[in-house]
Amino acid sequence: MSQNSKIQVLAEISRRVNSIRSFREVLMESLRLSVEALKAERGAVILRGEEGEAEYKVGFGEEEAPSLNVINRVLSTASPILTHDVRADGELSESKSLLVRGIRSILAVPLFVRENLAGLIYLESGTKNLFVAEDLEFLRAFANIIGVALENAEYFEDLERENRRLRDQLGEGDIKIIGRSPLIKRAVELADLYASSRAPLLLTGPSGSGKELLARYIHRRGNYVGRFVPQNCGAIPPELLESELFGYKKGAFTGATADKKGLIEEAKDGVLFLDEIGELPLPLQVKLLRFLQDGEIRRIGDNRVRKIRTRVIAATNRDLEKMVKEGKFREDLYYRISVLRIDLPSLADRKEDIPILTNYLIKKFSRSENKKVRGIEREALDRLIEYDWPGNVRQLENVILRAVISASGEYIKAEDIRFFMETGSGGRRLKTLEDLEKEYVRKVLKLVGGNKTKAAEILGITTRGLQYKLKRWGF
Ligand SMILES: Nc1ncnc2c1ncn2[C@@H]1O[C@H](COP(=O)(O)OP(=O)(O)O)[C@@H](O)[C@H]1O
Ligand SMILES: [Mg+2]
Repeated sequence: MSQNSKIQVLAEISRRVNSIRSFREVLMESLRLSVEALKAERGAVILRGEEGEAEYKVGFGEEEAPSLNVINRVLSTASPILTHDVRADGELSESKSLLVRGIRSILAVPLFVRENLAGLIYLESGTKNLFVAEDLEFLRAFANIIGVALENAEYFEDLERENRRLRDQLGEGDIKIIGRSPLIKRAVELADLYASSRAPLLLTGPSGSGKELLARYIHRRGNYVGRFVPQNCGAIPPELLESELFGYKKGAFTGATADKKGLIEEAKDGVLFLDEIGELPLPLQVKLLRFLQDGEIRRIGDNRVRKIRTRVIAATNRDLEKMVKEGKFREDLYYRISVLRIDLPSLADRKEDIPILTNYLIKKFSRSENKKVRGIEREALDRLIEYDWPGNVRQLENVILRAVISASGEYIKAEDIRFFMETGSGGRRLKTLEDLEKEYVRKVLKLVGGNKTKAAEILGITTRGLQYKLKRWGF
């Protein structure tokens, strides 16, 4: 290998070590580069952990391991080994594992972290006279970089821990999911359980029920190194969505004037929150599925395949199973994203949470709005409890915010909220016929346990007619 290309490999290792935070990834990737650069067949980084050795291997089979003989020799002498031919080496020629596997050349150097012997880097090959003195120098340089990276990794972990501690202390960015109802408790329990998994997760529930909040909660709880990146699949046109998610290479299409990372990459080692996944166009469903299956993406117009660990949390207020039956959502993708699933209840299904939610929101908004509102009068609270909340917690939030802003006294009165609740969005004073129709249909459906045939009978319309309405309202 030429001096120049060696320097290039070292520069590349150094660059990656600085850019990848996940330590295991760094080691594997750099090891792979070194094995390739020195034309070895296999390689390993062995770390002397407190509890036995941590090994990172490239090219070895599941059960295979580097020679113990070599490992012990490097660790006990803290000096490198460069063997041109194992069979001609007095000590190593006795080593069964080397002979059985037909190993002839070995190169191994000690690995130091802050001047302490931390392990070794090991390369081997069945070709004799493969490694030369220069290669030893190369591997030493590699070991130095790894040593510094190890030091940084420890330092980085310390910083992260400190950061988390400070954040907790400040209570800043604290994500609270308010609710005592069994339904919400169950949802939070599942969220805690699923936070540490990296498998895809599906959150279902009506709009405004807290799906995004729960996704953020999971991101906070799951010790992710990467960011939380939200994207609403229904918010932008399909062509744009593809380049948003997957990124593109310069020149891939008119307007692609520079390489661009997609959101999947932006959320590397973190969470990509795909809101309204039901709106994802079919061709993109195929691409997303491929990513979920092998963890690989290709930017548009790019040949390079990138391996990326990003957890996908998808959310929907639509009935995906039904969409699958109608051929609007791919069945394979549906199964893939719904391995883990949390269903969020509508606010109407957990009315017992309305009082604490209301109090929580009053506190929150009187602080942010600099008002001295301390609570709510009983009559006003009763009205909140009676109401149906088609917009769920988001709507309750809006109502409380307006009430806090417009409240004249310390306690919110019925008259402070009446106006906003009747109009939902605060624009119109009275409900439309369709609003009433929706409310009534919802009530009847609940009464008959969701049975659409029965509900249609009671409502005096055909089942198809009812289905049409439900679809239009997104029930
Ligand atoms: N259980 C809850 N406790 C506190 N705030 C909530 C809760 N559920 C929802 N919210 C708030 O209601 C609003 C709507 O929630 P969001 O997560 O955006 O709903 P969705 O994604 O289901 O449409 C957000 O401002 C969110 O913080
Ligand atoms: Mg939402």
